[in-house]
Amino acid sequence: MTSEEQVRANIVRLAKSLFDRGFSVGSAGNISCAVEDGILITPTNSSLGSPDADRISKISRDGRHISGDRPSKEVFLHRAFYESRPATGAVVHLHSTYCTALSCLADVDPNDCIPPLTPYVIMRVGQVPILPYVRPGDQKAGKLIDDLGGKYAAVLLANHGPVVAGRDLESAVFAAEELEETAKLLIVLRSMKLRYLTDAQVEELGTVFGKP
Ligand code: 13P
Repeated sequence: MTSEEQVRANIVRLAKSLFDRGFSVGSAGNISCAVEDGILITPTNSSLGSPDADRISKISRDGRHISGDRPSKEVFLHRAFYESRPATGAVVHLHSTYCTALSCLADVDPNDCIPPLTPYVIMRVGQVPILPYVRPGDQKAGKLIDDLGGKYAAVLLANHGPVVAGRDLESAVFAAEELEETAKLLIVLRSMKLRYLTDAQVEELGTVFGKP
């Protein structure tokens, strides 16, 4: 197997895994992964539940369609992460239920919507801003991510869902899962009095495990 075939196989495996466990339904969500000569991204209107390795779209780093089916309309979100965070090797966009629920709440801090509830979300995801609403496929979403200057590994798109970057596909998927589970905890615990990790506990995580 060439390394690109390996990446295609990994996209298929992890896309299906996300779909099978309910992180994506219908044709929602898209996944991309950097390869030597461009970016592989799931095609528009395709389901993460039944990806076809040979039909995955390939685009150049500057967004030109090279091969495969027509790329996801959210290609701008993905490219913005590759461009603004050079360590990015893969990007996952989902409409996962609890992240999307959180992205619809009017009284959540748009600069930092995930308080330090548990260690793993700090270790894998870090601070998460909510970006203003734009319609799916609008290039403006790419600009909004670019404007963050690569500071965050994940964002929530208001009333839409999460976009999560990682150094490789597995890291991006693990982070997207961790973010979704944390959003679920926040929604489930919403009316309860919470105990958060302290600044010192958060700092210790950064020292021991590094920043996402
Ligand atoms: P695509 O089918 O174009 O990938 O779009 C799906 C989606 O998740 C829109 O936000």
